[in-house]
Amino acid sequence: MARLVLTFLAFAGLLLSSCQVAGPAASTSGAWKKGYDDASAKYASKPGWNQAPSVPGKPVYAQTTYSSVSVSQPCVAMTFDDGPHPSNTPRLLDMLKQRNIKATFFVVGTNSQAYPQILRRMIAEGHEIANHTWTHANITTLSTDALRRELRDSADAITKATGVTPTLFRPPYGATTANIKALIKSEFGYPSIIWSVDPEDWKRPGVQVVADRLVAGARPGGILLAHDIHKPTIDAMPSALDRLLAKGFQFVTVSQLIALGQKGGATAP
Ligand code: NI
Repeated sequence: MARLVLTFLAFAGLLLSSCQVAGPAASTSGAWKKGYDDASAKYASKPGWNQAPSVPGKPVYAQTTYSSVSVSQPCVAMTFDDGPHPSNTPRLLDMLKQRNIKATFFVVGTNSQAYPQILRRMIAEGHEIANHTWTHANITTLSTDALRRELRDSADAITKATGVTPTLFRPPYGATTANIKALIKSEFGYPSIIWSVDPEDWKRPGVQVVADRLVAGARPGGILLAHDIHKPTIDAMPSALDRLLAKGFQFVTVSQLIALGQKGGATAP
């Protein structure tokens, strides 16, 4: 009997400790799938493209906003904003690759246009790319048409570079309103992704402080914010990532984290 109980506990522990989530059934129609298939064919011959993960169907998001996700597993999403940057982002990608960590990049459209090869590397290495406007605008100051342009142009640059259409959005500065979030969700399908841990790395408080704040703030289901355009932030990542791994955290992309929450039925609609 004791052995049976132990076996059961080990099995349950195995289930709970995994951040794997089965994707929804792959969609067989629609522009999103077509864009991905086209891109697969287009980049099939590019080095590294064969490392691209299988992509599930276009996700459906229950909520208009996420700052964290209620999950039972020790999973977190590391997010990097405002890039890509020509030297800092590739250095960060090397660090992530060494640790087999998947992250989410909220890219600025003008930078996507300037460095499309970095976006292609992100996708080839299993990361998620998300929309962070074309010019890093404060969207609360824009007309509705200007807001639409900011999101559409940024999405177009990502799709043009990678063939993958983003499904998530983060408002620059976290500045948004309930009305804007509702409009973006209904017109673009994007939930607005905020964060649960902000190390304020853009204020450059020091490498150790950035790492300490990320590690201290991490909780299961957390969305951690950092900026891959700042060299000291990249310098902080080996310590931050290794300490989070040592604490038992597993890294997933934001869309994977949301899927884990929805799978558990733990998120409110
Ligand atoms: Ni930003």
